[in-house]
Amino acid sequence: MAGPLASPAPRLAPRWFDVLRALEEAGAGTPSYVYDLDAMQRDASAVVAAFGDRPGNVFYAVKANSAGSIVRALAARGCGADVVSGAELLLALRCGVDPESIVYSGVAKADEELDAAIGCGDRGIRAVQAESIEEIPRIDARARAAGRIARVALRINPGVSFEELGTHAHVATGHDEAKFGIAKEDLRFALAEVDAAKSVTLCGLSSHVGSQFFRVDPYVTAARILCGIAKEVRASHPLEFLDTGGGFGVDYTGESPATPADEFVRAALDVMKREGQDDLALHVEPGRCLVAAHGVLVARVIQRKQSRARPEDRWLLIDAGMNDLIRPALYQAKHRVVPLGTTQAGASTEAWRVVGPVCESADDFGEHALPGGGFDHVALLDAGAYGYTMASRYNGRAMPGEVFVSGGRVVASLARRPMAEWANERALS
Ligand code: LLP
Repeated sequence: MAGPLASPAPRLAPRWFDVLRALEEAGAGTPSYVYDLDAMQRDASAVVAAFGDRPGNVFYAVKANSAGSIVRALAARGCGADVVSGAELLLALRCGVDPESIVYSGVAKADEELDAAIGCGDRGIRAVQAESIEEIPRIDARARAAGRIARVALRINPGVSFEELGTHAHVATGHDEAKFGIAKEDLRFALAEVDAAKSVTLCGLSSHVGSQFFRVDPYVTAARILCGIAKEVRASHPLEFLDTGGGFGVDYTGESPATPADEFVRAALDVMKREGQDDLALHVEPGRCLVAAHGVLVARVIQRKQSRARPEDRWLLIDAGMNDLIRPALYQAKHRVVPLGTTQAGASTEAWRVVGPVCESADDFGEHALPGGGFDHVALLDAGAYGYTMASRYNGRAMPGEVFVSGGRVVASLARRPMAEWANERALS
């Protein structure tokens, strides 16, 4: 085993340890994600600490990064799990997360998924968050079949638009036309359904207005709306918690630090106090803000390509594609690309369009200022969230590798699978 990984040359990847050495140590190949578990734990502890002596309120959104090493590392710092599928639920349980620390959202939960949520542990999970009025009798039926009482939260759509939130339309969820949640105007119908359900008990109200927002105000507005609804509900139904979701943005530019997640938590706690709802627990469901900045996607430069007639047309062809990191193709997201390895500090840079091997024009990570040579690996920064979890095997590509670093050492890794594996599998279909 090699010694602790050395600090990087500061210019190349300021917050990063020696990712190439980690890759080599792990034998993971490229493209691979490399994650800093310690940094993730530090950020998780800060959010948990914002609750002071109100423990057990941070439910990590597993969809951001479902690697067991990460789920376990965050659980060790007091995070539960917010899951959106039966598979994510099983994963959280396998990682040792207590059912009492799991909430489950999702617009179309299948019966077998509801059964897993209701049936685990002594009393099922902390809350199945119902996203429609029609889901309530379905949960009731599954709970009755299991001989249990299912604890249910109503996911309310607070009606906050993405313009108000200042986020991308694809990741805004709390506006009126979104498929998510129960319209606040439908509340009394949802409560009637809860009353009719004999194997369901209402325990909370949840919301999630969207992802990658930076401003505290629209979040506070949604929290205030939720508090207003809670007052109405509590006139007839006891509640235990309010869940204001996740969505706390991260800075992908490296230029303007984002509002730390604990500030959102404190703002929500303040609103609850002002609205007289602070006897309820507050749940939050952060995903991206705990993991995005602490993961990079490392790729090898396959080749450079330059037009002879128009030398300003330059492409850096790397072995990571949109199948490994789809955010640029899907949301026009820009992840910074930095050279790794032998580049000399102070080398002059030119604009290079960084693209992958997938046969789609969208397989394009954008234009980046890079030296003309002197390196054969790059890191795509801030790729710890919605990277691996959204990866696919399109074009016969293998899933990327994963390397987990803690205390300056590789503590777990998963190598990229060999090329022939996909061919062998698909040949059987
Ligand atoms: N809770 C619920 C109910 C959610 O739907 C989400 C994310 C979260 C929590 C966590 O949000 P976060 O704190 O990570 O922003 N693939 C997109 C993001 C989709 C987010 C979907 N829901 C991206 O790469 O930007």
